[in-house]
Order: sequence, then C-alpha cells, then structure tokens
Amino acid sequence: METVLKSENEKVYEITQEVVIEVRNIDKSFGKNNVLKKFSMDLHRGENVVVLGKSGSGKSVLIKCIIGLLKTDAGTIKVLNDDISNFDRDELDLMRVKVGFLFQSNALYDSMTVRENLEFPLRRHGKEKNREEVNALVLEALTAVRLAHTIDMMPSELSGGMRKRIALARTLILKPEIILYDEPTTGLDPVTGKEISQLMVEVQKKYNTSSVIISHDVNCVKIVANRIVLLIDGMCYTSGTYSELSNSEDPKVKQFFT
Ligand SMILES: Nc1ncnc2c1ncn2[C@@H]1O[C@H](COP(=O)(O)OP(=O)(O)OP(=O)(O)O)[C@@H](O)[C@H]1O
Ligand SMILES: [Mg+2]
Repeated sequence: METVLKSENEKVYEITQEVVIEVRNIDKSFGKNNVLKKFSMDLHRGENVVVLGKSGSGKSVLIKCIIGLLKTDAGTIKVLNDDISNFDRDELDLMRVKVGFLFQSNALYDSMTVRENLEFPLRRHGKEKNREEVNALVLEALTAVRLAHTIDMMPSELSGGMRKRIALARTLILKPEIILYDEPTTGLDPVTGKEISQLMVEVQKKYNTSSVIISHDVNCVKIVANRIVLLIDGMCYTSGTYSELSNSEDPKVKQFFT
C-alpha cells in the first residue's frame, strides 16, 4: 500500500496502518432479505476506500450501520477503536462529530440559506461559538469547496454540483476525522462528477480525513480510491487498488470496470 503521499503544497500526509473503522463479520437482514452476510472491511487513517457494488447490494445499508443509523444483527463495528453496537444516543451524537456523513440526497435544508445550513451542525452539536468564530468557520468550509460567494443564497438557487459541495462544506465544518460518502457523484454530469471527485481528494489531503466512499461511478473511483472493496452477495468479494481490480480477469470483478 502507498503509505506516504504529497499534496500540491508539499504538506506530507500519510496513509498509516492505524485502523479507524473496523467492520467484522457483520450480518444485516430485513425479514428474509439477507443484505449483508459476514461482511468485513477496514479503513486506515488517511485512506480513501471505495465500496463498489451493484444497486441494491447493501452499500447504503453498510454505511448506515457504520454511522449507527441501522443496527447490525451480528458482528462488530469499531469506529476509532470504540465498538458502536451498544452506543446510546449521546455516544452516537458524539461519534457523528468525528464522523461526517454525506447523504446520497445531500439533505440540505431548503428553507435555510447556505450560511444557516452550515451553522446548523455547529448548533446541533453544541459547538456554537461567538458570532465572529462561527463566521470564520462557515467561510473556511465554504472556501474549501470554493463556494464562498454563495453564503447568502438559498439551496434552490444552486446547481446539483454546487449543492453537493455545500453538503460537503456542512460536513467539513465540524472538522471530522472520517467522512462517509454515499454516491457523491450520482446524478451529476461527468464534468461536475470529476470536479467533486477531485475536491474529495483535496479534502482528504487538506483535512487529513479518512473516507469510506460508496460509488459505482468508475471515473470517480479512479480518482478517489486508494483501495476498493467489492461488495458482492453481502460479502467482501475482494479488495485492491484501482489498477489491480480494473486489470482483473475475474468476470465478477471485470463487470464493474467495463
Ligand atoms: N429500511 C429498510 N427496510 C427494509 N429493507 C431495506 C431497508 N433499507 C434497505 N433495504 C433493502 O436492503 C437492500 C440493500 O439496499 P441499499 O439501499 O443498501 O442498496 P445500495 O447498494 O445502496 O443500492 P443503490 O446503489 O441503488 O443505492 C435492498 O434490497 C433494500 O430493499
Ligand atoms: Mg445506496
């Protein structure tokens, strides 16, 4: 595995051996629908891992289990060394400061301005500071996604790509150690999808985040993935780098890269 990478400004950041998310043998069923079957994966600090799988294979279910929105039936999930299975609401809340989650749908509040959307997580998690500090944090997060000029706009005035970037800024404002992305480029045109993918790599470097990214957009995967985990039939079928998997002769792997 590539362990040391350099970003454009030569600030060295690392993919370390430290495991920040450990998923071990998790099962998750809905009635007779066994979605995850002894699924396991690790995320290392500094790493972007893409979970690739067909529609309906359980990718969103997996990410919801990791963030504690769904309870697993069996197995363990450790986030930053804590087993989250018995977390109460307060503990989950605390975890969600360290672990940001970008919904497939963005989930921006349409009745709030961009500024208010970004201030919301600060208030929600009791991180509200004085006006000046809040303003500085909002501006910093918006600048990171290059949308400072939209601060007083409403989400309805923004394009799909801009809304995605605002949703990312709203996640960044809490300075998470880990970001979980559910289909960050779905519904965007290829050029905008590429911009979002590049932004995700910038964020990884600038904020030193580790991420689990769910995607079936091969162009996005190519840009963002340090490693790919293939989710097939509820299990981790295989994992590897983009070049390893895209050159595979295994038809089950190949189908994702054609
Ligand atoms: N809350 C729920 N109740 C019952 N079944 C559910 C629930 N959430 C997900 N499922 C089922 O779990 C399976 C996996 O769904 P999931 O949303 O994780 O798929 P996905 O891999 O994210 O697909 P897509 O690429 O289309 O987003 C589906 O069969 C779905 O119907
Ligand atoms: Mg999904």
